Amino acid sequence: MLYNKLYNKVNLLIGDLGSGKTTFVRFFAKTSGIKTTVTSPTFNILQTYNCKDTTIYHFDLYRLESSLELEEIGFYEFTKGNNTIFIEWADKFNIENIFTRYNKISFYIIEENKRKIMVDIKNGNS
Ligand SMILES: Nc1ncnc2c1ncn2[C@@H]1O[C@H](COP(=O)(O)OP(=O)(O)OP(=O)(O)O)[C@@H](O)[C@H]1O
Ligand SMILES: [Mg+2]
Repeated sequence: MLYNKLYNKVNLLIGDLGSGKTTFVRFFAKTSGIKTTVTSPTFNILQTYNCKDTTIYHFDLYRLESSLELEEIGFYEFTKGNNTIFIEWADKFNIENIFTRYNKISFYIIEENKRKIMVDIKNGNS
């Protein structure tokens, strides 16, 4: 099941503006039993959701100007634990070089109301 592959893993979300990254995290959070609405974290850079079995750290790096800011927002601290991590605009600072194990989720706009989502699981058999 896809949910189990993303749960407590680092998930990099790659795709154009409006391709569905935040919407995807919203669905995941709902599946995790989140009661509150998950909004886009663009203005916050990080939003945290405490679920029954995991904590979701939802980053949106769109507004970061330099990778030096990653340290300031607690990026390294929050991503090293055993939590569920979603990172929008993860391609911006070559984030994938930071992690040895991660999933890569790519979003493509097909039509206004149609998306293609490709999930590349790189976390082995867990
Ligand atoms: N799977 C989907 N199928 C159809 N429409 C979708 C899908 N996912 C998102 N959308 C629509 O696309 C729009 C943008 O979605 P969303 O905010 O999730 O994109 P985003 O990739 O997070 O954008 P940004 O780069 O600005 O953060 C919304 O209006 C949403 O309804
Ligand atoms: Mg978004």
